[in-house]
Amino acid sequence: MNRLKDKVAIVTGGASGIARAGSELMALQGAAVAVADLNVKGAADVAHTIRASGGEAEPFSVDVRDSQSVQALVDDVVDRFGRVDILFHNAMSVPLVNNHDRRITELPDDIWHQIVDLVLTGTFLTAKYVARHMLNRKQGSIILTATTDALIGQAGIDGYTAAKGGVVAMTRSMAAGLSPDGIRINTICPGFVDTPHQAVFMSNPAERDKIERLHLMGVMSPEDIGHLAVYLASDEARRITGSIITADSGYTAFKTPVDLTTVFQR
Ligand SMILES: NC(=O)c1ccc[n+]([C@@H]2O[C@H](COP(=O)([O-])OP(=O)(O)OC[C@H]3O[C@@H](n4cnc5c(N)ncnc54)[C@H](O)[C@@H]3O)[C@@H](O)[C@H]2O)c1
Repeated sequence: MNRLKDKVAIVTGGASGIARAGSELMALQGAAVAVADLNVKGAADVAHTIRASGGEAEPFSVDVRDSQSVQALVDDVVDRFGRVDILFHNAMSVPLVNNHDRRITELPDDIWHQIVDLVLTGTFLTAKYVARHMLNRKQGSIILTATTDALIGQAGIDGYTAAKGGVVAMTRSMAAGLSPDGIRINTICPGFVDTPHQAVFMSNPAERDKIERLHLMGVMSPEDIGHLAVYLASDEARRITGSIITADSGYTAFKTPVDLTTVFQR
Protein backbone atom coordinates (compact mmCIF):
# COMPACT_ATOMS: atom_id res chain seq x y z
CA MET A 1 0.00 0.00 0.00
CA ASN A 2 2.97 2.36 0.40
CA ARG A 3 5.03 1.86 -2.73
CA LEU A 4 4.66 5.54 -3.64
CA LYS A 5 4.51 7.00 -0.13
CA ASP A 6 5.59 10.67 0.05
CA LYS A 7 5.69 10.97 -3.75
CA VAL A 8 3.76 13.50 -5.81
CA ALA A 9 2.43 12.44 -9.22
CA ILE A 10 1.07 14.47 -12.12
CA VAL A 11 -1.21 12.29 -14.25
CA THR A 12 -2.30 13.91 -17.52
CA GLY A 13 -5.53 12.80 -19.14
CA GLY A 14 -6.46 11.76 -15.61
CA ALA A 15 -10.21 12.25 -16.07
CA SER A 16 -10.63 9.07 -18.09
CA GLY A 17 -9.44 5.62 -19.10
CA ILE A 18 -5.87 4.50 -18.46
CA ALA A 19 -4.89 7.70 -16.65
CA ARG A 20 -7.93 7.54 -14.42
CA ALA A 21 -6.95 4.00 -13.35
CA GLY A 22 -3.32 5.15 -12.99
CA SER A 23 -4.40 8.07 -10.75
CA GLU A 24 -6.45 5.78 -8.52
CA LEU A 25 -3.77 3.08 -8.27
CA MET A 26 -0.98 5.60 -7.57
CA ALA A 27 -3.09 7.18 -4.83
CA LEU A 28 -3.75 3.71 -3.38
CA GLN A 29 0.03 3.29 -3.10
CA GLY A 30 0.34 6.52 -1.11
CA ALA A 31 1.10 9.13 -3.80
CA ALA A 32 -0.52 12.56 -3.75
CA VAL A 33 -2.00 12.79 -7.24
CA ALA A 34 -2.53 15.87 -9.41
CA VAL A 35 -5.29 14.71 -11.76
CA ALA A 36 -4.70 16.95 -14.79
CA ASP A 37 -7.02 17.16 -17.78
CA LEU A 38 -8.64 19.45 -20.32
CA ASN A 39 -11.87 18.08 -18.87
CA VAL A 40 -11.73 19.74 -15.45
CA LYS A 41 -15.10 18.39 -14.32
CA GLY A 42 -13.93 14.82 -15.08
CA ALA A 43 -10.64 15.45 -13.24
CA ALA A 44 -12.58 16.78 -10.24
CA ASP A 45 -14.74 13.63 -10.19
CA VAL A 46 -11.65 11.39 -10.18
CA ALA A 47 -9.96 13.44 -7.44
CA HIS A 48 -13.18 13.30 -5.40
CA THR A 49 -13.37 9.50 -5.75
CA ILE A 50 -9.74 9.18 -4.62
CA ARG A 51 -10.29 11.42 -1.58
CA ALA A 52 -13.50 9.56 -0.69
CA SER A 53 -11.48 6.35 -0.39
CA GLY A 54 -8.85 8.00 1.83
CA GLY A 55 -6.29 9.05 -0.80
CA GLU A 56 -4.83 12.46 -1.60
CA ALA A 57 -5.68 14.10 -4.93
CA GLU A 58 -6.48 17.46 -6.49
CA PRO A 59 -7.88 18.24 -9.94
CA PHE A 60 -5.94 20.56 -12.26
CA SER A 61 -6.83 22.06 -15.60
CA VAL A 62 -4.31 21.67 -18.41
CA ASP A 63 -4.12 21.74 -22.18
CA VAL A 64 -0.95 19.80 -22.98
CA ARG A 65 -0.70 21.49 -26.41
CA ASP A 66 -0.17 24.86 -24.75
CA SER A 67 3.25 25.68 -23.31
CA GLN A 68 1.93 28.26 -20.82
CA SER A 69 -0.81 25.94 -19.62
CA VAL A 70 1.71 23.13 -18.95
CA GLN A 71 4.11 25.50 -17.18
CA ALA A 72 1.24 26.78 -15.02
CA LEU A 73 0.24 23.20 -14.18
CA VAL A 74 3.73 22.33 -12.91
CA ASP A 75 3.93 25.59 -10.92
CA ASP A 76 0.48 25.03 -9.40
CA VAL A 77 1.26 21.42 -8.43
CA VAL A 78 4.56 22.49 -6.82
CA ASP A 79 2.71 25.27 -4.94
CA ARG A 80 0.08 22.80 -3.74
CA PHE A 81 2.19 19.69 -2.99
CA GLY A 82 5.78 21.01 -2.74
CA ARG A 83 7.32 18.99 -5.56
CA VAL A 84 6.76 16.54 -8.44
CA ASP A 85 8.30 13.04 -8.38
CA ILE A 86 6.26 11.29 -11.07
CA LEU A 87 4.75 12.18 -14.43
CA PHE A 88 2.34 9.69 -16.00
CA HIS A 89 1.49 11.31 -19.34
CA ASN A 90 -1.57 10.06 -21.22
CA ALA A 91 -3.51 13.08 -22.50
CA MET A 92 -4.91 12.27 -25.93
CA SER A 93 -8.12 12.60 -27.88
CA VAL A 94 -9.09 9.08 -28.92
CA PRO A 95 -12.05 10.42 -30.98
CA LEU A 96 -9.68 12.69 -32.96
CA VAL A 97 -7.74 9.62 -34.06
CA ASN A 98 -10.62 7.15 -34.36
CA ASN A 99 -12.83 9.55 -36.35
CA HIS A 100 -10.34 11.60 -38.38
CA ASP A 101 -6.97 9.88 -38.79
CA ARG A 102 -6.57 8.21 -42.20
CA ARG A 103 -4.27 6.45 -44.62
CA ILE A 104 -1.64 9.03 -45.71
CA THR A 105 -3.22 9.68 -49.11
CA GLU A 106 -6.55 10.67 -47.53
CA LEU A 107 -5.17 12.33 -44.39
CA PRO A 108 -6.08 16.07 -44.34
CA ASP A 109 -3.12 18.33 -43.50
CA ASP A 110 -4.92 19.96 -40.59
CA ILE A 111 -5.72 16.59 -38.98
CA TRP A 112 -2.05 15.60 -39.27
CA HIS A 113 -1.05 18.85 -37.53
CA GLN A 114 -3.70 18.41 -34.81
CA ILE A 115 -2.52 14.87 -34.03
CA VAL A 116 1.18 15.76 -34.03
CA ASP A 117 0.43 18.82 -31.89
CA LEU A 118 -1.51 16.86 -29.29
CA VAL A 119 0.51 13.64 -29.18
CA LEU A 120 4.09 14.67 -29.93
CA THR A 121 4.24 18.35 -28.96
CA GLY A 122 2.02 17.62 -25.95
CA THR A 123 4.50 14.99 -24.78
CA PHE A 124 7.46 17.31 -25.44
CA LEU A 125 5.94 20.18 -23.45
CA THR A 126 4.76 18.08 -20.53
CA ALA A 127 8.00 16.13 -20.18
CA LYS A 128 10.05 19.32 -20.60
CA TYR A 129 8.43 21.37 -17.84
CA VAL A 130 8.13 18.46 -15.40
CA ALA A 131 11.76 17.44 -16.03
CA ARG A 132 12.93 21.03 -15.46
CA HIS A 133 11.41 20.85 -12.01
CA MET A 134 12.81 17.33 -11.41
CA LEU A 135 16.32 18.57 -12.31
CA ASN A 136 16.33 20.65 -9.11
CA ARG A 137 15.81 17.55 -7.02
CA LYS A 138 17.97 15.18 -9.11
CA GLN A 139 15.30 12.54 -9.20
CA GLY A 140 12.06 11.64 -10.90
CA SER A 141 10.21 9.10 -12.99
CA ILE A 142 8.53 10.06 -16.25
CA ILE A 143 6.19 7.50 -17.77
CA LEU A 144 4.89 8.17 -21.26
CA THR A 145 2.18 6.29 -23.12
CA ALA A 146 2.70 5.31 -26.75
CA THR A 147 0.99 2.31 -28.39
CA THR A 148 1.73 -0.98 -30.11
CA ASP A 149 0.74 0.90 -33.30
CA ALA A 150 4.10 2.69 -33.01
CA LEU A 151 5.92 -0.67 -33.06
CA ILE A 152 4.09 -2.69 -35.71
CA GLY A 153 2.10 -1.50 -38.71
CA GLN A 154 -1.53 -0.50 -38.38
CA ALA A 155 -3.29 0.55 -41.57
CA GLY A 156 -5.32 3.74 -41.76
CA ILE A 157 -3.92 5.78 -38.86
CA ASP A 158 -0.73 7.28 -40.25
CA GLY A 159 -0.88 10.46 -38.13
CA TYR A 160 -1.20 8.58 -34.85
CA THR A 161 1.48 5.98 -35.63
CA ALA A 162 3.93 8.71 -36.68
CA ALA A 163 3.33 10.86 -33.60
CA LYS A 164 3.50 7.95 -31.16
CA GLY A 165 6.60 6.66 -32.98
CA GLY A 166 8.13 10.03 -32.16
CA VAL A 167 7.28 9.48 -28.49
CA VAL A 168 9.06 6.10 -28.60
CA ALA A 169 12.17 7.65 -30.16
CA MET A 170 12.16 10.59 -27.71
CA THR A 171 12.01 8.18 -24.79
CA ARG A 172 15.47 6.85 -25.54
CA SER A 173 17.16 10.19 -26.20
CA MET A 174 15.51 11.87 -23.21
CA ALA A 175 16.45 8.97 -20.95
CA ALA A 176 20.08 9.24 -22.07
CA GLY A 177 20.04 13.01 -21.67
CA LEU A 178 18.43 13.09 -18.24
CA SER A 179 19.97 10.03 -16.58
CA PRO A 180 23.00 12.03 -15.25
CA ASP A 181 20.45 14.02 -13.25
CA GLY A 182 18.67 11.02 -11.79
CA ILE A 183 15.56 11.26 -13.96
CA ARG A 184 14.19 8.05 -15.48
CA ILE A 185 11.99 7.95 -18.58
CA ASN A 186 10.07 4.92 -19.81
CA THR A 187 7.24 4.42 -22.28
CA ILE A 188 4.40 1.94 -22.08
CA CYS A 189 3.00 0.65 -25.39
CA PRO A 190 -0.47 -0.70 -24.67
CA GLY A 191 -2.39 -2.99 -26.99
CA PHE A 192 -6.15 -2.47 -27.18
CA VAL A 193 -7.43 -1.20 -23.83
CA ASP A 194 -11.12 -1.22 -23.01
CA THR A 195 -11.55 2.48 -22.21
CA PRO A 196 -14.72 4.60 -22.66
CA HIS A 197 -13.81 5.90 -26.12
CA GLN A 198 -12.98 2.40 -27.38
CA ALA A 199 -16.52 1.23 -26.53
CA VAL A 200 -17.42 1.82 -30.19
CA PHE A 201 -15.31 -1.25 -31.06
CA MET A 202 -16.29 -3.35 -28.06
CA SER A 203 -20.02 -2.86 -28.66
CA ASN A 204 -19.72 -4.24 -32.21
CA PRO A 205 -19.69 -8.07 -31.88
CA ALA A 206 -17.60 -8.66 -35.04
CA GLU A 207 -14.98 -6.05 -34.05
CA ARG A 208 -14.95 -7.25 -30.47
CA ASP A 209 -14.35 -10.83 -31.60
CA LYS A 210 -11.47 -9.72 -33.86
CA ILE A 211 -9.84 -7.72 -31.06
CA GLU A 212 -10.28 -10.52 -28.54
CA ARG A 213 -8.64 -13.07 -30.85
CA LEU A 214 -5.59 -10.82 -31.23
CA HIS A 215 -5.04 -10.47 -27.46
CA LEU A 216 -3.80 -13.79 -26.07
CA MET A 217 -4.77 -13.19 -22.44
CA GLY A 218 -7.91 -11.15 -23.13
CA VAL A 219 -8.50 -7.46 -23.87
CA MET A 220 -6.63 -5.17 -21.51
CA SER A 221 -8.28 -3.09 -18.81
CA PRO A 222 -7.08 0.42 -17.83
CA GLU A 223 -5.91 -1.10 -14.53
CA ASP A 224 -3.58 -3.52 -16.40
CA ILE A 225 -1.67 -0.47 -17.62
CA GLY A 226 -2.05 1.44 -14.34
CA HIS A 227 -0.31 -1.32 -12.35
CA LEU A 228 2.69 -1.17 -14.69
CA ALA A 229 2.82 2.61 -14.31
CA VAL A 230 2.85 2.22 -10.52
CA TYR A 231 5.85 -0.10 -10.80
CA LEU A 232 7.73 2.27 -13.14
CA ALA A 233 6.97 5.19 -10.81
CA SER A 234 8.24 3.35 -7.75
CA ASP A 235 11.80 2.96 -6.46
CA GLU A 236 11.50 -0.76 -7.34
CA ALA A 237 12.21 0.40 -10.92
CA ARG A 238 15.20 2.57 -9.95
CA ARG A 239 17.40 1.13 -12.71
CA ILE A 240 14.74 0.94 -15.40
CA THR A 241 15.11 3.79 -17.89
CA GLY A 242 14.92 4.28 -21.65
CA SER A 243 12.66 1.21 -21.89
CA ILE A 244 9.83 0.77 -24.35
CA ILE A 245 7.57 -1.71 -22.62
CA THR A 246 4.74 -3.43 -24.44
CA ALA A 247 1.72 -4.21 -22.30
CA ASP A 248 -0.44 -5.84 -24.90
CA SER A 249 -1.75 -9.23 -23.82
CA GLY A 250 0.62 -10.86 -26.33
CA TYR A 251 -0.63 -8.83 -29.32
CA THR A 252 2.84 -8.12 -30.75
CA ALA A 253 4.25 -11.51 -29.76
CA PHE A 254 2.91 -13.44 -32.70
CA LYS A 255 2.30 -13.01 -36.44
CA THR A 256 -1.16 -14.50 -36.73
CA PRO A 257 -3.72 -16.14 -34.50
CA VAL A 258 -3.43 -19.30 -36.63
CA ASP A 259 -2.06 -22.17 -34.56
CA LEU A 260 0.32 -24.06 -36.87
CA THR A 261 0.18 -27.14 -34.65
CA THR A 262 -3.35 -27.62 -35.94
CA VAL A 263 -2.28 -27.08 -39.57
CA PHE A 264 0.74 -29.40 -39.78
CA GLN A 265 0.69 -33.04 -38.79
CA ARG A 266 3.34 -33.47 -36.08
N1 LIG B 1 -7.35 2.78 -25.13
C1 LIG B 1 -6.51 2.16 -25.92
O1 LIG B 1 -6.87 1.14 -26.54
C2 LIG B 1 -5.09 2.64 -26.07
C3 LIG B 1 -4.18 1.81 -26.73
C4 LIG B 1 -2.86 2.24 -26.88
C5 LIG B 1 -2.47 3.47 -26.39
N2 LIG B 1 -3.38 4.27 -25.76
C6 LIG B 1 -2.89 5.56 -25.26
O2 LIG B 1 -3.16 5.65 -23.88
C7 LIG B 1 -3.45 7.00 -23.52
C8 LIG B 1 -4.78 7.06 -22.80
O3 LIG B 1 -5.79 6.52 -23.64
P1 LIG B 1 -7.26 6.29 -23.10
O4 LIG B 1 -7.91 5.34 -24.02
O5 LIG B 1 -7.21 6.00 -21.65
O6 LIG B 1 -7.88 7.75 -23.37
P2 LIG B 1 -9.21 8.46 -22.83
O7 LIG B 1 -9.89 9.07 -23.99
O8 LIG B 1 -10.01 7.54 -21.95
O9 LIG B 1 -8.61 9.63 -21.92
C9 LIG B 1 -7.82 10.62 -22.47
C10 LIG B 1 -7.95 11.87 -21.62
O10 LIG B 1 -7.10 12.89 -22.18
C11 LIG B 1 -7.79 14.14 -22.07
N3 LIG B 1 -7.28 15.11 -23.04
C12 LIG B 1 -7.53 15.18 -24.39
N4 LIG B 1 -6.89 16.22 -24.93
C13 LIG B 1 -6.21 16.84 -23.92
C14 LIG B 1 -5.37 17.97 -23.87
N5 LIG B 1 -5.10 18.70 -24.96
N6 LIG B 1 -4.83 18.31 -22.67
C15 LIG B 1 -5.11 17.61 -21.55
N7 LIG B 1 -5.91 16.52 -21.54
C16 LIG B 1 -6.46 16.14 -22.71
C17 LIG B 1 -9.24 13.79 -22.32
O11 LIG B 1 -10.11 14.79 -21.80
C18 LIG B 1 -9.38 12.44 -21.60
O12 LIG B 1 -9.82 12.62 -20.27
C19 LIG B 1 -3.41 7.80 -24.83
O13 LIG B 1 -2.15 8.43 -24.94
C20 LIG B 1 -3.60 6.74 -25.90
O14 LIG B 1 -2.99 7.11 -27.12
C21 LIG B 1 -4.67 3.89 -25.58
